Amino acid sequence: MAEFMGNLRRTDMCGNFGIKDVGREVVVMGWTQRRRNLGSLIFVDLRDKTGLVQIVFDDTTESAVFSKAQSIRSEYVLAVKGKVRERESKTDKIATGAIEILADELKILSEADTTPFEIVDDTNVNETLRLKYRYLDLRRPSLQKNLFMRNSILKAARKFFDDNGFTEIETPMLGKSTPEGARDYLVPSRVHPGSFYALPQSPQLYKQLLMIAGFDRYYQVARCFRDEDLRANRQPEFTQIDVEMSFVEKVEDVTYPIEGLIKNIFKSTIGLDLGEGHFRTMTYKEAMENYGSDKPDTRFGLKIVDCSDLFKDSPFKVFTDALTIEIGPIRGSVRGINAKGLAEKFSRKDLDATVEYAKTLGAKGLCWMTWQKGGEIKSSFSKFLTENDVENIKKRMNFEEGDALFFASDKDYVVFNTLGGLRLYFAEKFGLVDKNVYDILWITEFPMFEWSEEENRFMAVHHPFTAPMDEDLEFVESAPDKARAKAYDLVINGQESGGGSIRIFSRDIQRRMFKVLGFSEEDIQAKFGFFVDAFNYGTPPHGGLAFGLDRLTMLLTKDESIRDVIAFPKVQTASCLMSEAPSPVEDKQLKELSIKVEE
Ligand code: AMO
Repeated sequence: MAEFMGNLRRTDMCGNFGIKDVGREVVVMGWTQRRRNLGSLIFVDLRDKTGLVQIVFDDTTESAVFSKAQSIRSEYVLAVKGKVRERESKTDKIATGAIEILADELKILSEADTTPFEIVDDTNVNETLRLKYRYLDLRRPSLQKNLFMRNSILKAARKFFDDNGFTEIETPMLGKSTPEGARDYLVPSRVHPGSFYALPQSPQLYKQLLMIAGFDRYYQVARCFRDEDLRANRQPEFTQIDVEMSFVEKVEDVTYPIEGLIKNIFKSTIGLDLGEGHFRTMTYKEAMENYGSDKPDTRFGLKIVDCSDLFKDSPFKVFTDALTIEIGPIRGSVRGINAKGLAEKFSRKDLDATVEYAKTLGAKGLCWMTWQKGGEIKSSFSKFLTENDVENIKKRMNFEEGDALFFASDKDYVVFNTLGGLRLYFAEKFGLVDKNVYDILWITEFPMFEWSEEENRFMAVHHPFTAPMDEDLEFVESAPDKARAKAYDLVINGQESGGGSIRIFSRDIQRRMFKVLGFSEEDIQAKFGFFVDAFNYGTPPHGGLAFGLDRLTMLLTKDESIRDVIAFPKVQTASCLMSEAPSPVEDKQLKELSIKVEE
C-alpha cells in the first residue's frame, strides 16, 4: 500500500529498520518523539505505531531543509526522505538503534501544541489527565501494544470460528428489558412514549433463538452493557466473544471444543502452547471449600481447611454461634488457613492490620494463632483453647513452628469470602504468585440457585435458561439449594474470563425453573413471552458460553486495569473523561421523548 504526501511516498514504517537497510533511500512518516539540536546536527526520533527511528539533519543537508528542521517540536507530524546509514554510536534502547536516516527532504505535515503530558511509557502522569486526552495517551507504545493484542485475539478467534463451522451473526442493540442479572441501560423510545429499549447485557436470548432458527453454530463479537458497580476488571460497556452451539447435551460438548479457541488464542498471540490435554476441571464445591472463591487462583496454596467439628463443644461463643446458623439453606462454619512459614511476617501490629482487612471482606472479626520459630504458640483466643484443642489444630491445619493461622467463623459464604480474600491479600503482599505462569481451569457444577437473604427467595446463579444436571432435576422444586447446573466458567489466574451453560430446551423444565424463581405465568408471558413461545416450535438441545474479551486481553498483556486494554474506557463513575459522557441533554430532546427529569 503506497501512501503519498505530495511527492513523498512512504516506503517503510519507522520501527522496522535494521542493518540490512543501510544504503537504502527511504521515506518515513510519523510523530516527533524527541528533537535534539546540537548546532550543526539536529536529531529527531520519529515515532509511528511500529516504533522509533532516529533521523539526522546535518548542516551539509540542503539549507532550506536544515532550517525547517530547526522548527520541529515534540509531536509535530513529519514526512522525511533520506538515506539509511549505520550509526556511529549504536544503542539497544530502541529496536532500530543500529541505524539512522540522514534526511535530505522534510515535510512538516502538522504542527503540535505542547502536549499536556509527555508521550512516554515511563510516565507518572495521573490517569485522570491521561483519560481526558485519551487520544494522546493512546500514542504511548504500551497502550498501542494492548490494542494490537486485542486485535490479535479477535483474529485468532475468528480463524477458529471460521475453521469450525461457526457463523458470526449480529443481534440487536435495542432490545427488551428483562429482569435478573445486572441493572439495564435503558433507551427511551420517542415513538412509544413511556416505553424503553434496553441495551443488551448479553445476546443471551437472541443467540438461543438463533439455535431454534437452525444456525447450528453462532458466534459474535458482542458489545454488552451492564449498569453495575465498577471494579478493576469491570466496565459498563465491554465486549464478549459470544458462542452458542446446537446439538450439545453434556458440559464437555461445549467446553472441549472451546478449549481449542483458547489454545489458538494463546498460541497465536503470545506463542504459548497450552498442550494437547484438556484443561483441568474443578467443581464449584471444591473451589469454594478450598479457595473460598468460584474463581480460585490456584497458582499458590494457602488452602482453606474446615475446622467446624473441632469447635462444636468449644466454650468460645463466637465459634459455636456460627455453627448453629440456619437461615433458609444457609449454614455457618469455622474454617482456617495456614500462612505456612510466614509467622515472622506477623508482628502484633500486622496481626491487627490483618484483622482489620478481614473486616473489609465482610468478617465481623478474625482469630489468629502464631508459632514463631523458637517461640511459643500465641493466639487471639487462647483462653478458650485446651491443650487438646491445640493438638487437634496442629493436626488439622498442619500447624508447625514458623506458621501463622487465621480462622473465620460465620455464615459459610462470609467465611469463604473472608478467607478467600485473605489468601489473595497474602499472595500479593508476600509475593506468593509466579506471575509468569498461566493457570487455567474450568469450574463446573455450579449451584442452580442461591438464596437471597435480601429478597428472601432463590435467585438463578447463572441465568434462568441454564439446564440443571440430569441427576439433580428432582431437586429443582424439593431442595433448590441442592440442584447443580450444567454451567461452567473458565478461570485463568483467578479471573473469570468466560462462562456459560447447557441450556434448558424443554418447555416443561423452563416453566419449572421460572416457578422456583417466583415468576407467575403472567410474568413469564410479559417478560419472556417471545422467548418461551419459540420453544413450542422445535428446539434443538443447545448450549454455549461467552468470554470477556477485555479480561482475556488483560491476562495476555498482564495489565491490572481493564481501562488499559480499552481504547476509550469509562472511569469508576461510569463517565468518559474525554467526551464528558454522560451529559445533560436539551429540554427539546427530553420533550420529544416525553421525559421529565426530577430535580
Ligand atoms: P457472564 O455474565 O458470565 O455470561 O459474562 C461472560 C463474561 O463476560 C465478562 N464480563 C465482563 N467483562 C468486563 N466488564 C463487565 N462488566 C463484565 N461482565 C462480564 C466476564 C464473563 O466471564 N450470556 C452469558 C454467557 C452464556 O451463558 O453463554 C453471560 O453473559 O469475562
